[in-house]
Amino acid sequence: MIKLAILASGNGTNAQRISEYFHGNDKIGVDCIIYNKKDAYVAKRAQALGVPAQYFGRADFYENGAVLRFLQERKIDWVILAGFLWLVPEDLLKAYPNRIINIHPALLPKYGGKGMYGHHVHEAVVANKEKESGITIHIVDQYYDKGTTLFQAKCELSDEDTPDTVAEKIHVLEQEYFPKVIEKAVLG
Ligand code: GAR
Repeated sequence: MIKLAILASGNGTNAQRISEYFHGNDKIGVDCIIYNKKDAYVAKRAQALGVPAQYFGRADFYENGAVLRFLQERKIDWVILAGFLWLVPEDLLKAYPNRIINIHPALLPKYGGKGMYGHHVHEAVVANKEKESGITIHIVDQYYDKGTTLFQAKCELSDEDTPDTVAEKIHVLEQEYFPKVIEKAVLG
């Protein structure tokens, strides 16, 4: 069994979709969800799904090694960032080389980098009157949104689109493709 840990910071629609997609799969399973904001709605989703969820704060990620110990104790094979908004600490990158996957709600390298997450991305895309946006699923390295791209999917935008309607189009792409791309990557 290939064990996934999902890291999330907020709502958790991607974490839920991935958990449901692999439910009952005999090769890949979501072992746990880790979240870094105490009131993140993803914790409620995890509970409803019956997936173990654990909160870790800044010191656990960057100072005392608690997150890495947790992942190793549970024998996690791959780490999935699903709306996780902190830079991945170095000890995790070393322990999981090319085994951490992120989703970004834009067509990288456009609209990436520090501060470019969630709704901020869609606001910038609309402000620049882009004709298209999309999702990028990529391997994580020590920089924000820079690692090797595994997959991109696009959606068309019109003059009528608002940040909210762009978010909805991106959400559809994320739900459709993220679990499938994870599956392909971890099965090699
Ligand atoms: C998703 O759109 C994801 O692509 C984005 O945050 C949202 C999380 O939604 N990630 C980033 O912006 C990372 N830079 P969710 O919590 O409902 O899955």
